[in-house]
Amino acid sequence: MTELFHPFATVPQDELVARAGADPLRPRFHFVSPAGWLNDPNGVTQWSGTYHLFYQYNPTGAFHHRIHWGHATSTDLVNWIDEPVALSPSEGPDADGCWSGVLVNDAGTPTLVYSGRHGDRELPCVAMGSPDLRTWTKAPENPVIAAPPAGVEITAYRDHCVWREGTVWRQLVGSGIRGRGGTAFLYESEDLRSWNYVGPLLIGDASTGDPGAADWQGTMWECVDLFRSGSGTLGSPSERAAPDVLVFSAWNDGDTRHPLYWTGRYAGDSFEPAKLHRLDYGGRYFYAPQSFVDESGRRVMFGWMQEGRSDAAMAEAGWSGVMSLPRLTTAAPDGTLNFAPMPEIEQLRYGHVQLQPRVLVGPETAGSVPGSGSAVPGIAGNQLDLELELQLAPGAVVRLGLLGSEDEHGNVIEETIVELALPVDSPAATLRLDRNRSSLDPTVDAEEKSGPVPTAEGRFSLRVLVDRSAVEIFANGKPLTARVYPTLGGGRVSLAAAAGSARLLRFDAWTMRDIFGGTRTLFP
Ligand code: FRU
Repeated sequence: MTELFHPFATVPQDELVARAGADPLRPRFHFVSPAGWLNDPNGVTQWSGTYHLFYQYNPTGAFHHRIHWGHATSTDLVNWIDEPVALSPSEGPDADGCWSGVLVNDAGTPTLVYSGRHGDRELPCVAMGSPDLRTWTKAPENPVIAAPPAGVEITAYRDHCVWREGTVWRQLVGSGIRGRGGTAFLYESEDLRSWNYVGPLLIGDASTGDPGAADWQGTMWECVDLFRSGSGTLGSPSERAAPDVLVFSAWNDGDTRHPLYWTGRYAGDSFEPAKLHRLDYGGRYFYAPQSFVDESGRRVMFGWMQEGRSDAAMAEAGWSGVMSLPRLTTAAPDGTLNFAPMPEIEQLRYGHVQLQPRVLVGPETAGSVPGSGSAVPGIAGNQLDLELELQLAPGAVVRLGLLGSEDEHGNVIEETIVELALPVDSPAATLRLDRNRSSLDPTVDAEEKSGPVPTAEGRFSLRVLVDRSAVEIFANGKPLTARVYPTLGGGRVSLAAAAGSARLLRFDAWTMRDIFGGTRTLFP
């Protein structure tokens, strides 16, 4: 993240909140900051039953500057209450920002480990919380690590993953070694204040692959998150345990690229990698994810849904950044991770519509009726939860149109397309998001996003959550997250085969309620 001071800083507080509230593209059932800027999820946890979501927050405007920790709580992961800002920059090692970090339970004391920014560098800092997690006191020992490891030329050094292992604390700090690749430095401590450097847990190779590729490792790893993917504890020996996972966000010289994860085995002081995977096919639209295990044993992940519009458009809108819906993260049978929205989200549903099962036939099939892409009867809107079961024949391409608007002749002039394709000659299917016609605004990002989806015999479970400018798609457990900026406000939904044939086995749709009512304030 490059720290830029922005010229739009002059918008008064009330005006900022009013602008944000008035923006029709602002999501209504995703968490967003009261106004101003939001980026990474931080300190995600469940503490005495209550879920806590902290986040990188600039309450003074919709640009990244002098980052605070915003705070919200929830009893159900769906409805959020704004809490007082948890951390603000103050004289000392975090004078220029309280950057990303985590929350741990230090023998009953909620404790934050975060990156204090001073000038243009970040160092690890600690803050202790009151029992209700509302008031935070910075440790007098800050910064708790005085400098990055000596003798290595680093690209950057920040963000934390902290866990208890046996009788000690262990910590990873994200970094990168110049000329080699991203890394996570491993430390050990008895008290979270005094840390011994152990060594790099794993060093990536930035020279592998094309720097433009969707799985390029980057020159620095932001927001590292290490966990065992199935049940079981990190570091506990078990031959048959599900893989360990090292999540990171690949970064390069100020450019936030995409979240990736290594599967492998963490043992002793290192991580033996098996394979590198893309975490979300939307790339930077699901950035800097952080996860935790809740009191019922579920691993829950949040990510930052970045904007795809210009800095000027964000500043004008008065807000920037969306928190993803919480995602249930599970070990897939093939050793990768699967994701699904937490089931709690379903409580926002109303106005259920179910389509009859039917056959979708594409235009290429001889003698058939062409797939029309005509509007699906009874289903429309810009706050939707859609669930489809599909069976694609080899060669089939199915398209689900969203957020569509027609002109006066009935031509579709704005539309976002989710596509599933099953090639004839390969069992690997593709999920694709086509944003070419998502917006009449030529300045917004319209880059295509896609990735492979495992399928058994052409069967697909497709889940799509549309929340105005936020779209989250899950196809057989593989996510694709993105932002779109329709200008016409249309909510047309269409479904058709663009090639081959497919069976629609089930299509359930719901409208989604708003989670915020009333006016929010920048400093709750
Ligand atoms: C990731 C990131 C982190 C950093 C924070 C600053 O998006 O750049 O590396 O701690 O955001 O807001």
